[in-house]
Amino acid sequence: MSHLSLKNDNDPKPSLTGDLDPGLSALIDRLAQGEALSGPELINLIDGRTPALAERLFHLAREKRNLYYGRSVYARGLIEFTNYCRNDCYYCGLRASNAKADRYRLTTEDVLNCCQTGYDLGFRTFVLQGGEDPYYTPERVAAIVQAIRQKHPDSAITLSIGEKPKEVYQLWREAGAERYLLRHETYDSDHYASLHPPQMSRENRLRCLNDLKSLGYQVGLGFMVQSPGQTTAHLAEDLLFIRDFEPQMVGIGPFIPQKDTPLGQEKAGSLELTLYLLALIRLIAPRVLLPATTALGTIDPFGREKGLLAGANVVMPNLSPREVRAKYLLYDNKICVGEEAAECRYCLDKRLSKIGHQLVVHRGDCVGFPLTAAVAPPIPMAFSSL
Ligand code: 5AD
Ligand code: FES
Repeated sequence: MSHLSLKNDNDPKPSLTGDLDPGLSALIDRLAQGEALSGPELINLIDGRTPALAERLFHLAREKRNLYYGRSVYARGLIEFTNYCRNDCYYCGLRASNAKADRYRLTTEDVLNCCQTGYDLGFRTFVLQGGEDPYYTPERVAAIVQAIRQKHPDSAITLSIGEKPKEVYQLWREAGAERYLLRHETYDSDHYASLHPPQMSRENRLRCLNDLKSLGYQVGLGFMVQSPGQTTAHLAEDLLFIRDFEPQMVGIGPFIPQKDTPLGQEKAGSLELTLYLLALIRLIAPRVLLPATTALGTIDPFGREKGLLAGANVVMPNLSPREVRAKYLLYDNKICVGEEAAECRYCLDKRLSKIGHQLVVHRGDCVGFPLTAAVAPPIPMAFSSL
């Protein structure tokens, strides 16, 4: 059985030495003090990582997370409402060309039922995630958002349904959506082009993110760790982009091959590098909402716990009906496909309390995000450190 020491996972170690390099350690301290590092400095920090350096980084990342959020972990109820997708990303199991994907759509009533189940379990954030499914016209999505908003006015609605024109984002914002997740995947144009078909571009992805920001959404971006072709220089660019964009959320997880995709034979990203990057992100963007993702839980039985110990503060258990869960397969071996919403919720409760965290049920807004008084986030209460 695996355990929770961050010093002792099964990944290959990036260095044979356990010594704390004073130069690199000083870079981490500068980051923790809010200083901006350059691209080359970030590259050194990533390439020069050792278990000892990672421990130091995790410690500072936990301190920073605790300063803003205490030991509270925000839960978001994920509803995967359609796995149809018009896109053809080379890494994703939902890609249009994957004839083996067993497609489904939830009705508005299904989605509302999921929200009600989630609400009764204490969830106050619902994340509607799906492929880019033309059946869900802007108006249909707006109607779903409005219906949720009406039934659960004290809950936050997050959308994660891909690239749209600004007018559509605006329609959904006016319908009551307040947050939007759209990973940028990689800041580098050539790397982006190597992961996506020619109709997709990094430029349009960035246009979307800027539109979302300008419409007042709390925006989440992010990337896969060790997606094929990713270099340390790409990662440094991603980190600098995160710093400059100032997102409210950052979703990162290891790349995991899905066998029916063009990248299905590539190697998965490592737990070790994903944790290191989570901790760097916590120091670069201290108040960011940072999920310990399902992909992290998929590559290691305690991946999500280890993510929290590296500075994450969000988990996103699944509220989708059990009948459809096994069909939303972005990657192979996804966890929790056999569980009910309540099972995941209580399982996470237990797992988190074992490592000194508690799952909290309020909306969980990003600390410091400008909001109206009616939806202002609670002031962080705990200032403890691990
Ligand atoms: N491995 C890991 N993450 C993936 N995603 C899509 N396919 C994979 C995969 N094979 C991520 C992408 C996308 C998010 C919804 O899921 O980063 O933005
Ligand atoms: Fe739809 Fe990848 S194919 S998100």
